Amino acid sequence: MATKKIVTVFGATGAQGGGLVRAICADPNSEFTARAVTRDPNSDKARELAKLGAEVVYGDLGNAESVHKALEGAYGAFFVTFFWAHYSPEQEKAEAALFAKAAKEAGIKHAIWSTLEDTRELVPLDDDRMPTINEIYKVPHFDAKGESNKEFTEAEVPTTFFHCSFYWDNFIFFGAGPKKGQDGKLALTLPIGDSKMAGIATEDIGKCAYGIFKNPKQYVDKYVGVAGEHLTGQKMAEALSKALGETVIYNKVTADVYRSFGFPGAVELGNMFQIYDEFEEKVNDLRDVKISRKLNPELQNFEQWLSRNAKRIPLD
Ligand SMILES: NC(=O)c1ccc[n+]([C@@H]2O[C@H](COP(=O)([O-])OP(=O)(O)OC[C@H]3O[C@@H](n4cnc5c(N)ncnc54)[C@H](OP(=O)(O)O)[C@@H]3O)[C@@H](O)[C@H]2O)c1
Repeated sequence: MATKKIVTVFGATGAQGGGLVRAICADPNSEFTARAVTRDPNSDKARELAKLGAEVVYGDLGNAESVHKALEGAYGAFFVTFFWAHYSPEQEKAEAALFAKAAKEAGIKHAIWSTLEDTRELVPLDDDRMPTINEIYKVPHFDAKGESNKEFTEAEVPTTFFHCSFYWDNFIFFGAGPKKGQDGKLALTLPIGDSKMAGIATEDIGKCAYGIFKNPKQYVDKYVGVAGEHLTGQKMAEALSKALGETVIYNKVTADVYRSFGFPGAVELGNMFQIYDEFEEKVNDLRDVKISRKLNPELQNFEQWLSRNAKRIPLD
């Protein structure tokens, strides 16, 4: 049997990378084998990946040598940064530069860089329809990733520029789900007007990335977005109502109201949702459901995701 090609996966115990490691390990005929990078190879999550057949290695983005080492001998690599762990776009940019440099040095044949749009190309900094953040960003966790695309092109790393959609799992883990108002009714509060927002089940992200690794000729040097379905706030509320057996109202607030909520990241997320709303067509065209299903035939729509996950959504 030919030796399998190693794909090094950063964020392997997390949402995006975890799905990719599981997708590779679940395919007995895969031409690839997964190398899962974690800061703690002894954690329960890391051990679970090892049990599935992944090679688990230590790596920390704060330790450049460990990033280089994790890529040694690899054919491919999945690169993702972790904005919500530190809220620093500067840190994301430095990590992306490290990824690109290390990928070049290791001779990576196919990288997937989990990026997002540089929203300043849509809303320049002097456009006051939304506030500028830290003087040089509109949506820092998007802009830092988009700005970093050039690291991969300039280093001439064969790269797929991978764009994820809003995780439906944010309704479980990120406090984004329906909440009971003072009237006791459940409301899904989002500032996306009547626009459709691209969403995805996190487990499907890695499965789509696996489809990209299987078709390098088609996807290297391309911008690829993935989504399970594009839905309005009203449609999401209706699907949630059905799945939860309790009415959920779509509480359509303005981006200004959302930004005023005051939780950490409220201004940034208000800007992000405003982009989803005002640039609906552009954002959703990139996140094509048909292409996502071609990459991952098991792709779930929102109703299917809810049938498996609605009970896990905290409602208080
Ligand atoms: N939430 C959304 O809707 C959404 C949509 C599109 C894009 N995104 C982007 O997705 C990115 C996060 O990806 P994710 O959701 O897959 O992350 P995640 O689920 O939070 O997983 C992060 C994993 O990465 C590892 N990690 C954290 N810091 C690390 C470091 N310094 N060095 C090495 N590994 C580290 C951790 O594993 P160990 O503890 O095992 O090391 C953790 O399990 C963010 O940048 C965000 O902007 C999110």
